[in-house]
Amino acid sequence: MIDPFGRHISYLRVSVTDRCDLRCVYCMAEDMTFLPKSEVLTLEELERLCGTFIDLGVRKLRLTGGEPLVRKNVMSLVRGLGARIGSGLDELTLTTNGTQLTKYADELAAAGVRRINVSMDTLDAAAFKAATRWGELDKVLDGIFAAKAAGLHVKINAVALKGLNEHEFDRMLAWCGEHGFDLCLIETMPLGEISEDRTDQFLPLSLVRARLKQNWTLNESSHTTGGPARYYDVAETGTRLGFITPMTHNFCESCNRVRLTCTGTLYMCLGQEDAADLRAPLRDPELGEEGLRAAIAEAITRKPKGHDFVIDRRRAAPAVARHMSV
Ligand code: GTP
Ligand code: 5AD
Ligand code: SF4
Repeated sequence: MIDPFGRHISYLRVSVTDRCDLRCVYCMAEDMTFLPKSEVLTLEELERLCGTFIDLGVRKLRLTGGEPLVRKNVMSLVRGLGARIGSGLDELTLTTNGTQLTKYADELAAAGVRRINVSMDTLDAAAFKAATRWGELDKVLDGIFAAKAAGLHVKINAVALKGLNEHEFDRMLAWCGEHGFDLCLIETMPLGEISEDRTDQFLPLSLVRARLKQNWTLNESSHTTGGPARYYDVAETGTRLGFITPMTHNFCESCNRVRLTCTGTLYMCLGQEDAADLRAPLRDPELGEEGLRAAIAEAITRKPKGHDFVIDRRRAAPAVARHMSV
């Protein structure tokens, strides 16, 4: 699949549920209403849809949410997709908040998952509780170590927020280094079902990087996952430090991805609302596989050149009322 700007679309992010057991302040309101089950694709439908994307050239699948591991029977989907690794699919991976990993780490590894991204913004239990509204840091740490024990490569994602973790990055980098985890710092984006855009908490990562460079030897790395992060090799730890800076440096020109929601809506860009409904063609027996492929091909012709996030102190609401993970 090649879009109008010549970009190869080989990476599909799939939100398997809109539900989450946490409520990170920059992502969800405390009193979220979730979709009724009838709106959500079944696991079989999701597997079929992902299969069509693989047939069309997707090489990497990332399951997200909400929190992917709170979806009932999610492992049946993971196993089904894992069976495609090596026959079309190169990589099956997940972005998770880690709360269910003690339960699932071994099964994920057995299904062919090799690496996972775990969202954990702070190593301070009180700050973690404040940032997630009720999350237990210890549960996530146990999950992370279960993943490590299962042989999964772990990358920690931390959204950088003034007043939450701005003085913690040295400690987090040291902790990740000690345990062999990569760390990825992320600029907060104006997204999510929250009532404000958190502009006041925005922390430009150029500043964070400059501070970290005083204590660590950061060598620009050629490593890439085809994702938005730019990596440095950390000489002292042998691990990597990534920066995702959509606000201060966008990377849209090399974007290789589209995003599928659990209702079968395909978004061509994180920062734009234009979308294609794939649920109708998926459920229409008359259209069949050809019809589904045609709907996907048409959607790809609509992929925009880039997002238009701006840091705007005057704006009260987020630019996109959608969760990051979708
Ligand atoms: P890998 O590179 O495979 O490790 O994953 P990833 O970084 O693409 O995925 P992950 O789910 O860990 O997302 C981490 C962060 O990447 C998110 O918080 C976003 O900041 C950013 N991100 C992911 N996809 C996009 C995208 O399409 N556009 C922009 N602007 N940012 C994205
Ligand atoms: N800005 C930046 N990153 C976000 N995430 C969720 N909401 C936002 C936001 N508004 C992050 C999560 C997770 C990843 C998928 O997206 O922390 O690591
Ligand atoms: Fe849940 Fe992830 Fe959103 Fe936090 S950022 S509320 S863990 S989906």
